[in-house]
Amino acid sequence: MKITYFGHSCFLVEMGENRLLFDPFIKPNPLASTVNFSAIEADYIILSHGHVDHVADVEEIAKRTEATIIANWEIANWFGNKGIVKAHAMNTGGKCGFEFGTLKMVTAIHSSSMPDGTYGGNPNGYVIESAEKTFYYSGDTALTFDMKLIADEFKIDFAFFPIGDNFTMGIEDACAAATFVKTDTIIGMHYNTFPPIEISEIEVMETARINNKKLILMNVGETIEL
Ligand code: NI
Ligand code: MN
Repeated sequence: MKITYFGHSCFLVEMGENRLLFDPFIKPNPLASTVNFSAIEADYIILSHGHVDHVADVEEIAKRTEATIIANWEIANWFGNKGIVKAHAMNTGGKCGFEFGTLKMVTAIHSSSMPDGTYGGNPNGYVIESAEKTFYYSGDTALTFDMKLIADEFKIDFAFFPIGDNFTMGIEDACAAATFVKTDTIIGMHYNTFPPIEISEIEVMETARINNKKLILMNVGETIEL
């Protein structure tokens, strides 16, 4: 499984023939200015919630690539009104099979409104189970006790967790979340993009080490294999 980082909470996960793009916020992100935006390809665009720092580039990428959007009902409809017909609407707790594997939409504790203020439904995370690996993309969330349920149902190989604090979990809670879902490997997201979520990379790496977690902080544009 190949993972490429496009800054903030945006990752491209390549699984077999399928390319899954999460929460694209690239063009408005100065930290992602080196990304070759028009070269990004995707088969699915998977969205955690409606905030602009997660959906800013969805319309443009979806129209160019004809990728299918996977999102909650409200977000799928909001993009439907913008002329994007390939959308798969879901809601919290629902599971569905796709070409790449099984995807379950799980709870997140956050808020969700669209960039124009429209109600964006509830925020969510996703667990994706595939022939290769099983991973959890939490989206923007607090630490929640519900995360323990994920470990009951899935064997999580690694998790994408926010570590920037202020709007979401910080590193301590991300380590606790990793313990809840029974994984040792965290890919950090949602940090450094804005002043309130700036972090010391040395400090978060040290906190992860003390908690016996492997924290991966990717450079923008970097691709890793997991
Ligand atoms: Ni948010
Ligand atoms: Mn956010």
